[in-house]
Amino acid sequence: MASPGASPKLEIHLGDNLEVLSGFEDGAFDLIYIDPPFNTGKAQARTRLRTIRDDKGDRTGFQGKRYRTVRLGTSSWNDNFEDFMAFIEPRLREAHRLLAPTGSFFLHIDYRESHYCKVLLDEIFGRENFINEIVWAYDYGARSKRRWSAKHDNILWYAKDPENYTYRYEDIDRIPYMAPGLVGPEKAARGKTPTDVWWQTIVSPNGREKTGYPTQKPVAILNRIVRVHSNPGDRVLDFFAGSGTTGEAAVRAGRQAVLVDSNPEAVRVMARRLALLNPIFHEAGRRVPAPPVEAEPNAPNPRSGSGHTGFLFPDPPE
Ligand SMILES: C[S@@+](CC[C@H](N)C(=O)[O-])C[C@H]1O[C@@H](n2cnc3c(N)ncnc32)[C@H](O)[C@@H]1O
Repeated sequence: MASPGASPKLEIHLGDNLEVLSGFEDGAFDLIYIDPPFNTGKAQARTRLRTIRDDKGDRTGFQGKRYRTVRLGTSSWNDNFEDFMAFIEPRLREAHRLLAPTGSFFLHIDYRESHYCKVLLDEIFGRENFINEIVWAYDYGARSKRRWSAKHDNILWYAKDPENYTYRYEDIDRIPYMAPGLVGPEKAARGKTPTDVWWQTIVSPNGREKTGYPTQKPVAILNRIVRVHSNPGDRVLDFFAGSGTTGEAAVRAGRQAVLVDSNPEAVRVMARRLALLNPIFHEAGRRVPAPPVEAEPNAPNPRSGSGHTGFLFPDPPE
């Protein structure tokens, strides 16, 4: 454990991560996961809509009832880098500095950048410190008629020390056998451990998990990483935190989390999503009050813990 004791469970920092990270001590974190912008050259944006029963509404739904569409707002951030490698390199070096001696680093990236990042990480961490390339495979959205549709991301795992890292095998969630009839009822009931290919659906556009933040990752992916690659009480860092998925997974599993994002909209989304955990907010190196958590039409207070999609945190840990 990097820093036991009195640290708060959840810190959220608004600011450029390079600047924020310079304020943390060497070896301060046991697990670091990052999901940087993929350099697609696009502005990422998502508009949040809600439908409300209205006899004069513009849509017809179940049993012919009419609904009106209400625009709740747009979340966006810029994913446009002249030179992605020049941007990411100093941040990867900081990740290495900040890892505890038994710590692990996970870089979530896509096929357009993963090979460049792997070469760079081999240089920063050492080739022998590369442990796995995890492929997150999903199956959603349009299919190409001109090539195989790209439906996966890559997650590169490096350990600070390849002989001494956390891997809680007993805490791995089990998945069903493809042919349960071949393994006998006991094994079939228990399921098997996943390989380095993780099948996991994306965050459903209509599901409870959705926060409305573009590129939000499924919490199931982060639950697995946090539970297997850190111990209770450990400090987990995500310095491209977005909607705060890593923070939710970490604190739910009894870890401490530090989240950093340069986009005030991300911090507002995290403030709503993680409100029940009483996060402590920082900006420009100073503690600041929580940003206001604005209400949405028809949405119960996120602190009430009932009924709201996306921002709900229904069963906070003790
Ligand atoms: C792909 S999103 C992360 C999504 C996140 N994993 C989730 O599940 O919601 C990347 C995030 O990096 C943030 N970001 C980009 N450049 C940054 C920088 N220099 N410092 C801190 N955050 C940055 C963006 O604002 C964006 O929220």
